[in-house]
Amino acid sequence: MKHTKIAELLKSDQFSQEFTAKGWVRAFRSNRFIALNDGSTINNLQCVLDFENTPEEVLKEINIGAAVAITGILKESEGKGQRVEIEVNTIEILGKADPEEVKKTILSPKRHTLEKLREQAHLRVRTNTFSAVMRLRSQLSFAVHQYFNQNGFNYVNTPIITGSDAEGAGEMFKVTNFDLNNPPKNEDGSINYKEDFFGKESNLTVSGQLEGETYALGLGQIYTFGPTFRAENSNTSRHLAEFWMIEPEVAFCDLEGNMDLAEDFIKYVLNHVLQNCDDDLAFLENRVIQEDKSKPQAERAPMALRDKLRFIVDNNFKRVSYTEAIDILKNSKPNKKKKFNYIIEEWGADLQSEHERYLVEKHFNCPVILFDYPADIKAFYMRLNEDGKTVRAMDILFPGIGEIVGGSQREERLDVLQDKMKELGVDEKELWWYLDTRRFGTCVHSGFGLGFERLVLFATGMTNIRDVIPYPRTPKNAEF
Ligand code: 4AD
Ligand code: MG
Repeated sequence: MKHTKIAELLKSDQFSQEFTAKGWVRAFRSNRFIALNDGSTINNLQCVLDFENTPEEVLKEINIGAAVAITGILKESEGKGQRVEIEVNTIEILGKADPEEVKKTILSPKRHTLEKLREQAHLRVRTNTFSAVMRLRSQLSFAVHQYFNQNGFNYVNTPIITGSDAEGAGEMFKVTNFDLNNPPKNEDGSINYKEDFFGKESNLTVSGQLEGETYALGLGQIYTFGPTFRAENSNTSRHLAEFWMIEPEVAFCDLEGNMDLAEDFIKYVLNHVLQNCDDDLAFLENRVIQEDKSKPQAERAPMALRDKLRFIVDNNFKRVSYTEAIDILKNSKPNKKKKFNYIIEEWGADLQSEHERYLVEKHFNCPVILFDYPADIKAFYMRLNEDGKTVRAMDILFPGIGEIVGGSQREERLDVLQDKMKELGVDEKELWWYLDTRRFGTCVHSGFGLGFERLVLFATGMTNIRDVIPYPRTPKNAEF
């Protein structure tokens, strides 16, 4: 018999009819009540067993973690906690789970820390928390594609292996098929990359932006959504070595249009989960409330999860120039009382996450778009302003997250771009193809990158980025 998803059964009113459900046993109590979950929803299906008519050898295999097929009659439930239940006619054990072995894993029915779940990342999708996060992640990524599709953007797949450093920050993983113990050498002892697989040095991409720009200057509006890699040794709750980035790029669009796009886009995807993922959001919201009970008031989340998301959707982001932000920070209490680790002394300082969080969480209390940063602290491709010292960059800062978006209007003037590249030592020969876009029909254009996991962090109320991606890659960790 074809089986029906538990999400459908829980909504069904086809009472007295027979259905088959397949899933994993979450709990089995009184030799009678099976809580079954198949991943289609956070909610379990209660299956009521007539144990007197169930063979002993089947009963002893109904263990937490086992995969089972249950066929029975859909009934209105008399017990509280669920609307419907299945009165079991037959139960088939599809995949056993030895209780002694289960005890050693996170499948065992007690509270496990998120750290412990990470150690068993192959099993954590069987937990409520992690399956809720993963369903939300999936819905968010669907909403990303839907937004851009509805707004006339083309989805472009930029290369994962590249010869260039898009950010000029030198944080790249090398790609090679050399025998590392014995790579071919030049006469001067340096490695001869001409003999390597691609005939030159190559890396995993840190951003699809540069290739994305070339496609925007032809297709008009594009976006990428793919994995990016950074070999930065940042062991924080906000950084991954492998993360997914969404990068729209738009021809004939200036910085203001770019900010409008980013704000509209973020509101759209968060609204999508509010509209479509209420069960999972409610679960995650409650999770935070329970966790916060053991924390001092000051560390608790100021808003319940769904209220927080609604607040973002319903309110304008505050747009503030870097110069204004520096003034605010210079005059702020933590700066004057030397509470910041990095004291803001003067214009030009790079903002640390403590400063970003002060602006968002203490001063403005809403998402902030900072723009017009000093040229010296930003990448080579950003459009120089008329003042000659700031660039048309924008970062979007979110409460609890810090930077969620980084973007800019791009330098479209060939000579200015070449000067900047020279100044920063970015090799023109490597980027000849990028410079061609400025030679043939250059135009004002802009784009940004949104770190997908930071968005998932925000939307789920989780606090560590390792808990919103199936298999996190971080310094000294590439298990699974
Ligand atoms: O600010 P970033 O470095 O900007 C770029 O890469 C531009 N090329 C994007 C563009 O204009 N097309 O990175 C963009 C975003 C950040 O705001 C952050 O959300 C995320 O990517 N991000 C990371 N997320 C997780 N782990 C890391 N190590 C990240 N580094 C950046
Ligand atoms: Mg950035």
